[in-house]
Amino acid sequence: MRQAGRYLPEYRSIRKKYSLSELFHHPELAAQITEFPVQRFGLDAAILFSDILMIAEILGLTVHFPEEGGPYVEPQLNASSTWQLFPVEKKLDYVFKTIQILRSHLRVPLIGFCGGPFTVATYLAKKGKNVKNWLYEEPKSFHHLLQTLTDASIEYLRLQIESGVQAIQIFDSWANILTYPQFLEFSLPYLRQIVNALRPTNIPMILFCRGAVNLIEELVSLQSHAISFDWQQELCFLRKKMPRSMAIQGNFDPELLHAPHAVIRREVEDRLNTMRGDPGFIVNLGHGVLPDTPVENVQLFVETVKNFTSLHEEEANRESLLDCHPT
Ligand code: CP3
Repeated sequence: MRQAGRYLPEYRSIRKKYSLSELFHHPELAAQITEFPVQRFGLDAAILFSDILMIAEILGLTVHFPEEGGPYVEPQLNASSTWQLFPVEKKLDYVFKTIQILRSHLRVPLIGFCGGPFTVATYLAKKGKNVKNWLYEEPKSFHHLLQTLTDASIEYLRLQIESGVQAIQIFDSWANILTYPQFLEFSLPYLRQIVNALRPTNIPMILFCRGAVNLIEELVSLQSHAISFDWQQELCFLRKKMPRSMAIQGNFDPELLHAPHAVIRREVEDRLNTMRGDPGFIVNLGHGVLPDTPVENVQLFVETVKNFTSLHEEEANRESLLDCHPT
């Protein structure tokens, strides 16, 4: 999930000098920020410092990240919009350069990513006349936008892989605003196209949808390598609904990192105990680190996980029965 950001003092100090958009467009700086959390906490992997919205640039749109309020694009799109298509390789070359810089010396695996087409579309639609109006009133043109974003995302991920990322994560963060039939129509088929197109590359693919706890069967059917969950359900319970060949990622509540240290330690140990011996478990938060999180709490979280895993290493190397022991 998002691991750089405003909770990190070194990030805040670089943000005093540059806007977010400048940082995303500057390969040396973006590479440096990608490494901040890894250097500070000794994490097992780095996630590229970029944003799911940069892909809007290939439609000739400008992405804005205002200091207050969420990001948006200009011009905003609606059912009668037309757009140009610029080559991904040229428009997003700064992303590929960032990846190349990182791979020249980074000592942990680098995770690339893109947004789910539906989630990206929610940010491209005209504010006020939002994405749901579009989807209800003009589903055909909305599908056309989703297909454009899907084709672009496949190309974008291919180029990220060629540049050196070692795993990819697809963030369909807003899938949970859809009704179930809408999810089947406007989100799932496009995720399927992306996963199918990239399968021949053998790159490990992680899927994240907010609300995935209610969509396990559907997401499992996409046959990615891993599914990442938010915090609404016990992982060991979700685990039973997934094939053993798939990894499971998640799902600590980001708000836990505001809790007293003893609570963080206890919660982490309790939850890890329920997943003990699972060889396909990737510890993570259920969503990004919140901006006002005390940095020492993130440190404590990581240390507690590392202490726990080294204590139970031997066990983790054995195949276990994946028993669920909710505490
Ligand atoms: O370690 C990392 O930070 C990884 C890079 C990363 C960012 N965005 C940088 C970023 C990743 C993986 C994302 C994904 C992203 N961006 C998602 C999907 C995951 C999720 O969080 O649901 C979404 C929906 C976005 C869109 C987006 N970008 C929003 C809604 C915001 C503003 C809200 C906020 O948290 O401030 C952004 C800005 C953004 N992208 C920041 C970062 C670190 C905030 C940094 C800042 O304000 O200085």
